[in-house]
Amino acid sequence: MQSAGTVVVLAAGQGTRMRSALPKVLHEVCGRPLLGWVLDQARALDPERIVVVTGHAEAAVREYVEQFESDPRITFAHQSVQYGTGHAVEVALANFRGVGGSCVVLYGDMPLVRAESLVRLVGQLKAARAAATTAIVDQPRGFGRILRSDDGAFRGIVEERDASPKQRSIREVNVGVYAFLVEDLELLLPELERNNAQGELYLTDVLTRIAERGDTIATVELEDPSDAIGINTLAHLAEARTAIQMRILEQHLENGVKIIDPATTYIDHGVTIGAGTEILPCTVIRGDVVIGERCEVGPFTHLRAGTRLADGAEIGNFCEAKKAVVGPGTKAKHLTYLGDVTIGAKANIGAGTIVANYDGTHKHLTTIGDRAFVGSGSVLIAPCAVGDDALTGGGAVVTRNASIPPGEAWVGVPARPLPKKR
Ligand code: UD1
Ligand code: CA
Repeated sequence: MQSAGTVVVLAAGQGTRMRSALPKVLHEVCGRPLLGWVLDQARALDPERIVVVTGHAEAAVREYVEQFESDPRITFAHQSVQYGTGHAVEVALANFRGVGGSCVVLYGDMPLVRAESLVRLVGQLKAARAAATTAIVDQPRGFGRILRSDDGAFRGIVEERDASPKQRSIREVNVGVYAFLVEDLELLLPELERNNAQGELYLTDVLTRIAERGDTIATVELEDPSDAIGINTLAHLAEARTAIQMRILEQHLENGVKIIDPATTYIDHGVTIGAGTEILPCTVIRGDVVIGERCEVGPFTHLRAGTRLADGAEIGNFCEAKKAVVGPGTKAKHLTYLGDVTIGAKANIGAGTIVANYDGTHKHLTTIGDRAFVGSGSVLIAPCAVGDDALTGGGAVVTRNASIPPGEAWVGVPARPLPKKR
């Protein structure tokens, strides 16, 4: 594979059309900000450097990258006022001026572009001076249109707002992913003019200039035009979520996870699931959850961040788990909340059990031992402990700081040891 020397990711815009205080690139798709998905695209090119252009809500964007996407190849460029995509790349140039080689530009609001498409794009630089990604779409909804001469050669890109009615009828659009030579960017970016409807410096004009100069510009058409979903509104975000969700589910299916109904299964980025596990319909798995092999989850189950299910665990109908570490073969099958709890092997959590982890101010931890049997409707008020082989009666309320010794049965409200029969 030909690797791109430099990748620039544009992430300075506010995203006014999102109608949200959150900067556009931090809006999440399947538990991960748009920018994270785009940085994956950048990494797929195995570049020497990745320059992220930030501006709007810069501190929050940088903090996200440093905390969750940290990579020694990433540097930031500061674009204080967003004068357009061409201006953004010009600002980035300060971080790699003179390095030569190729530069791929990615827009931070295009999360669906596949690594394969980028590799094809960069491959074009062997024969062409620059390359752009295009898609043939039914609804061009705001995208720049690709202009071609009669012989089909790339001639330029016109933004929708600058286009004539005839140009607007063109269905070949600019995806917003390009490969340039650094020397062309150095030469042409300073020459851009704000002579357009938006009064901006358009990166797309660099391509037009290269074509005018008589150099060849290659285009790579996306095989799947739906990869060209760009996020400008919350409706676009929802559309992209569905597409990325399907990719995540396909990956789990390939790994041997039996997902009965992909249409009603929500699994975030970063979830690990072992082979032979079955995910039943209407299940939501969010955050860094790890599920072992041969588990059963759902239907109607919500697993949240920090939850770990060991092999063969079963979490069923209307159960929610947060930071729950569940041992092998343990079952919680109905109407249960497991928050901040560690449960041993082969325990049984009865229907309607609530681990009351929150006292209104702090969260507390609960432990439940191996083979424990928690009776239906038990409330375990954290912090508390249920020992190995211990049992609670139906409706028992295990009070704060209580610790049921191994093998004992506690019942009632508040729960007390059941007198041993003689
Ligand atoms: C752009 C393209 C358009 C293409 C479309 C596809 C240009 C001039 N137009 O339009 O041809 O069809 O993308 O996605 O490039 N940004 C900055 N700084 C700026 C301006 C933008 O960092 O000064 C960032 C934005 O945060 C965003 C990306 O660049 O991530 C694209 O900007 P946006 O305003 O969304 O461009 P479009 O109007 O969608
Ligand atoms: Ca856009």
